[in-house]
Amino acid sequence: MDLFEYQARDLFAKHGVPVLDGAVIETAADAAAIAERFGGRAVIKAQVKVGGRGKAGGVKLATDPADAVAKAEQILGMDIKGHTVHKVMLAQTADIKEEYYVSYLLDRANRTFLAMASVEGGMDIEEVAATKPEALAKIPVDANEGVTDEKAREIVAAAKFPAEIADQAVEVLKTLWTVFIKEDALLVEVNPLVKSGDGKLIAIDGKVSLDANADFRQAEHEALEDKAAANPLEAAAKAKGLNYVKLEGQVGIIGNGAGLVMSTLDVVAYAGENHGGVKPANFLDIGGGASAEVMANGLEIILGDPDVKSVFVNVFGGITACDAVANGIVQALALLEEKGEEVTKPLVVRLDGNNAELGRKILTDANHPLVQQVDTMDGAADRAAELANK
Ligand SMILES: Nc1ncnc2c1ncn2[C@@H]1O[C@H](COP(=O)(O)OP(=O)(O)O)[C@@H](O)[C@H]1O
Ligand SMILES: [Mg+2]
Repeated sequence: MDLFEYQARDLFAKHGVPVLDGAVIETAADAAAIAERFGGRAVIKAQVKVGGRGKAGGVKLATDPADAVAKAEQILGMDIKGHTVHKVMLAQTADIKEEYYVSYLLDRANRTFLAMASVEGGMDIEEVAATKPEALAKIPVDANEGVTDEKAREIVAAAKFPAEIADQAVEVLKTLWTVFIKEDALLVEVNPLVKSGDGKLIAIDGKVSLDANADFRQAEHEALEDKAAANPLEAAAKAKGLNYVKLEGQVGIIGNGAGLVMSTLDVVAYAGENHGGVKPANFLDIGGGASAEVMANGLEIILGDPDVKSVFVNVFGGITACDAVANGIVQALALLEEKGEEVTKPLVVRLDGNNAELGRKILTDANHPLVQQVDTMDGAADRAAELANK
């Protein structure tokens, strides 16, 4: 999960990374009192989860409270690279002498953590990496050892940070590492880390991405989720513990196993080319032991998607055999009808693998008017696509 800048700033502050005072608002008029509190001047910053806000006009200096309201008004509602600005952060102004770059991230390719640092901060770091790779120091960080004094000094030296800020940079690198580890982050980035007029280092802009796999031990992270931006179907699926991603198409997809579901998406998209260009409407993996309840939950989400015109249930029986899945489908349809949720969209079911014959018989005997069976994956995808195009 990527965080907004103001949330990153809060995490930095919590662990002792030096930041400036800041406050988040959604209404421009609220900017006046905050600017007043900062002594009149403030930087108004669009809160969108995308970089390069400065260049896009999403970071503006206000010289007095009335100006702060005017600038907040300009930025709120702005579109930055497809992201609408709903919140702005007001930050104290920094007297910037130099801008540096520091980050920690998970380096999957090299199976380690990586520290990156540069004296060429502020601008697009990807550009620095591409045009001046020698200006971006990359130092692996051992997960067990972490950022010790020695490691921090190695990073400072590699990045060629000036001697007069070296000790401070070592402290910032160590506290930033604490943020990275304690918060179970996949990325923490400060760009720019500035040297201010009085020679102090301050993190002016922060980017943090948290590892959702650690949610179970990071109870406080749930509050950081941007509920307003979440797709309502995805939010409902998440609440039911389903592995669901909303897509743009018309054919609802349910399968068991992420690999099978991924290939089902491909097969349906391909079949759709012969049926008006219909496409998969979602990814939904109901996993191994798909109980009737899980199947009902999955169907409920998919049938609740107004874009869905037909549903393709693609199951390869393994440890959970096809007869169990077939019973699950029959019970799921009954459960939905009991709940008063009328099932009105056609379901194409393909069962193969362990106990396929028995599973097919269960569905045939149940004789549900909306359920059709097709024995092959390609055939079923074609049928589902055809029904979605009706
Ligand atoms: N509080 C601040 N005080 C002074 N200048 C700032 C402040 N915040 C940002 N800036 C300036 O604006 C530039 C861009 O802001 P930043 O927060 O890094 O946004 P982005 O990286 O999305 O463009 C910074 O490099 C810095 O020069
Ligand atoms: Mg920045």
